Amino acid sequence: MFHKNVQPFPENFLWGSASAAYQIEGAWDQDGKGPSVWDIYTKQEGTTYKNTNGDIAVDHYNRMEEDVKLMVEMGLKAYRFSISWSRIFPTGKGKINETGLDFYDRLIDLLIENKIEPIITIYHWDLPQALMDEYGGWESREIIEDFNQYCVTLFKRYGDRVKYWVTLNEQNIFIGLGYRSGIHPPGVKDLKRMHQANHIAFLANAKAIQSFRKYVKNGSIGPSFAYGPVYPIDSHPENILAYENAEEMNNHWYMDVYAWGEYPQTTMRYLEKQGIAPVIEDGDMTLLKAGKPDFMGVNYYQTATVASNPLDGIGEGVMNTSGKKGTSSDSGVPGMFRTITNPNLETTNWDWVIDPVGLRVGMRRINNRYQLPVLISENGLGEFDKLEEGDQINDDYRIDYINHHLVEIQKAISDGVEIIGYCTWSFTDLLSWLNGYQKRYGFVYIDRDEDGPKELRRLKKKSYYWYSDVISSNGNSLHKREGE
Ligand code: BG6
Repeated sequence: MFHKNVQPFPENFLWGSASAAYQIEGAWDQDGKGPSVWDIYTKQEGTTYKNTNGDIAVDHYNRMEEDVKLMVEMGLKAYRFSISWSRIFPTGKGKINETGLDFYDRLIDLLIENKIEPIITIYHWDLPQALMDEYGGWESREIIEDFNQYCVTLFKRYGDRVKYWVTLNEQNIFIGLGYRSGIHPPGVKDLKRMHQANHIAFLANAKAIQSFRKYVKNGSIGPSFAYGPVYPIDSHPENILAYENAEEMNNHWYMDVYAWGEYPQTTMRYLEKQGIAPVIEDGDMTLLKAGKPDFMGVNYYQTATVASNPLDGIGEGVMNTSGKKGTSSDSGVPGMFRTITNPNLETTNWDWVIDPVGLRVGMRRINNRYQLPVLISENGLGEFDKLEEGDQINDDYRIDYINHHLVEIQKAISDGVEIIGYCTWSFTDLLSWLNGYQKRYGFVYIDRDEDGPKELRRLKKKSYYWYSDVISSNGNSLHKREGE
């Protein structure tokens, strides 16, 4: 659809930026915090790029005021951050660590004082290690109640001041990488266990939303889903079927459950035939239906292009965690689909395709299928940045990337999609899980690398000033390419 004139961004649009506790806080054992699975996993030789971990990360825990000051100077309207579960409950349940709760109290109050809307992510992957040791984390139904207790603690403590809440960050990623490819904790490669853990995570998500209704009045809650809209490589009917398979298995499998409390049938049949379908107990579907969200949180980085894949076809692929272009490989689900290079799209140095239009496609699909507002909870570019003379960081490529995604968001709004806000990933540079510190996403450069924390100086990149202008002009300063 072409628009003669695009609609302006809504007046109350949440111009935001995001982070996650493990990736920024550091202070991994400070002030009573218990270890999370990431604290333990990253210490196992060879699990991350150059064995990096978040022990210090960018030391946000001890520099929180300085970081918020930078947000205020930029004019940020919303800040999405996650709470470290084991900072609140060092062993995942039972005794509360008041100092942990105080830290987030101070952060929230400071944000509100400065008219920055806090958006809390309850769970961004840092499961308390104690729960992994006790019952295997997401593989046990015991986690549903422990997660619920953790959520209720947060709802009671912060629900008077915080309106926007994200339950689980990218369930599809932490479960997929944790139990299929085995490159995130707990490092398992077992599809049956993966689908069971995934089902339990859905139940925990639904239960948390149910509790939210009780404790937080006038709040909004939803999951953040890592949405990679799928394209077929061409119009060959077999590839169209592969696209249907992939869109259902990768995306509807999650979003249908969040939005409707229902699993899509074709994928369920496929899993049953493979003997890897989740075991659904009495009452599960009722709970899933009771946990409907207020919005669909979407983390968007890229689209996937697929082709057909026979039963003995391609399976798990290799991920590029070094930034050496071309070191990742295609992957697939035998009998369903395989990924394939899209000749129309450029890629980053980590082989992620750059596709702003794909974001509009995704917004449209969500709007058509679920009629839910969307919160874009993550989008951004991970790249090498260069610290130049005079502490300058000229990240024009990041400006270009975010600019064109925002242009497509504005078109999606003009198409009729309700979009609450947009959080870039990320506000400061941070630890990129498996990719170390060299894959940078922030508006604020942090002077540290894989060899050590150095001075952890905070430096404003060119994109920092650019986004500040976008916010103050409510999107009017965005640059349109010819024909946009
Ligand atoms: C999302 C996560 O998957 O993408 C973030 O929610 C993550 O935590 C981001 O950092 C970018 O991924 P990566 O692997 O490049 O850090």
